[in-house]
Amino acid sequence: MTIRNQFDIEALRRIGHIVAETLELMKDAIEEGITTLELDAIAEANFRRHRATSAPKKVYNFPGQTCISVNEAIAHGIPSKRKIRKGDLINLDVSAELDGYFADTGFTIPFASVDKEIRMLCECSKRALDKGIAQAMPGAKLNLVGKAIEREAHRNGFNTIRNLTGHGTGGALHEYPDHIFNYYEPKQKGVFGNGMVVAIETFVSTGADSAEDAGDGWTLTTGDRSRVAQYEHSLIVTDQGPIILTQVMK
Ligand code: CO
Ligand code: CO
Repeated sequence: MTIRNQFDIEALRRIGHIVAETLELMKDAIEEGITTLELDAIAEANFRRHRATSAPKKVYNFPGQTCISVNEAIAHGIPSKRKIRKGDLINLDVSAELDGYFADTGFTIPFASVDKEIRMLCECSKRALDKGIAQAMPGAKLNLVGKAIEREAHRNGFNTIRNLTGHGTGGALHEYPDHIFNYYEPKQKGVFGNGMVVAIETFVSTGADSAEDAGDGWTLTTGDRSRVAQYEHSLIVTDQGPIILTQVMK
């Protein structure tokens, strides 16, 4: 969506805060032996407390409140009885709706990981998100985000997943622009508009450049042993720089 007035900004800030807070609660609860279903229940309780609704459940009838993807799963993982183990790479993707407004955020945790490459992957993907977000200015080409993300990944010896992308959000979970790529796509012609609400998300990979169906109808995997770190923020594009909606003030 493109914001029309101060009311839109306040409503987006509200749902942005709810998903960011929910993500923090889930991160804080991660410990050895907890199941991804138990992590999802934390989101369910927090959404209920705020009268918010899980976006993937509402929009796609996803079988969970949030997407929790572990190790070989890289996106849209279904909360289950799977127990978290030390060394797991855990992605939490949290999106929700309140009063018709949507926000979407994501974070990857290398839980008690001693694997240097995995920790570097996560740091690289976080920097790539900052660099991608810095491109989101009114009048700037949408494809400069992917250019910045891909450059940061390649500079560190990593790759990006081409068929998972950022997107417009705010008035729906996914809306125009349909794709904000994680690589430089010269054929994409669109530009950011002032007040445009977008979710920018990085998918930085240790090798693979595409995600494949894992076979359960939802989960996506790299298909090889490569690992992926995703970070995501929803934001409003403005002349004064982006207003990040999904950051928690600590
Ligand atoms: Co997301
Ligand atoms: Co998203």
